[in-house]
Amino acid sequence: MKNLVVFSGAGMSAESGISTFRDKGGLWEKHRIEDVATPEAWNKNRALVNEFYNQRRKQLLEASPNAGHLQISAWQNNFELHVITQNVDDLHERAGSQRVLHLHGELRKVRSTLNPDLIYSLNGWELKIGDKCEKGSQLRPHIVWFGEMVPAMEDAKKIISQAEIIVVVGTSLSVYPAAGLIDFRSGSSKVYLIDPGDFDLHYVRGLTHIKKKASEGLKELDELLIKDAAETGA
Ligand code: APR
Repeated sequence: MKNLVVFSGAGMSAESGISTFRDKGGLWEKHRIEDVATPEAWNKNRALVNEFYNQRRKQLLEASPNAGHLQISAWQNNFELHVITQNVDDLHERAGSQRVLHLHGELRKVRSTLNPDLIYSLNGWELKIGDKCEKGSQLRPHIVWFGEMVPAMEDAKKIISQAEIIVVVGTSLSVYPAAGLIDFRSGSSKVYLIDPGDFDLHYVRGLTHIKKKASEGLKELDELLIKDAAETGA
């Protein structure tokens, strides 16, 4: 089976009703990054930061995977599938994808402010100021904030370097280091971008842009991959 890696961003979950960040009406139009998504913000106003993520979590619990998430998990029957996502939702997992690497953390998890290795699944949507880890320190959202390291980056580079087919879906490719992941691909890999937005990606050799929403674009790509496999006997 060929090795296929999906690299997803917020647009992947847009059709599940979860707002993207930089589109018109997106989250960063309604909230300032420096108020809710940095370690400084957490130190300055924990209640505000915590409430921001509580609201995101509440919204996520009401959302379901869309046809795009389901299409990706169905590829496990035909490909060695890895998903690398910038999304903090768990919609890839809920759609059945088994190998999902989260670059920017996971909304349904929280962790100790004393020891980052103490990570817990949160029941329900609400983390309260005053909820503590087993060592007695405040729990925080398990999110990679702006200015923090991206611990999963090394694993992600390794996964992308082994991909034969790369499917980038629903990301503006504007936040580093995640956006630079594609640079670590093998030169012989095929790259597909599924996103309704305009991009200048002339420097990515062998790129095919399917300028559509995730669900529709992934369906189209599925047909293309089946056709390719039939032609090459792969
Ligand atoms: N299907 C596919 N793509 C879509 C859809 C859709 N239905 N709707 C919007 N998009 C595309 C937009 O065209 C845009 O390119 O999704 C992309 C969303 O871009 P961003 O909002 O910048 O989201 P993302 O790239 O995931 O952001 C990266 O920034 O603040 C952060 O940590 C956060 O992980 C996030 C990172």
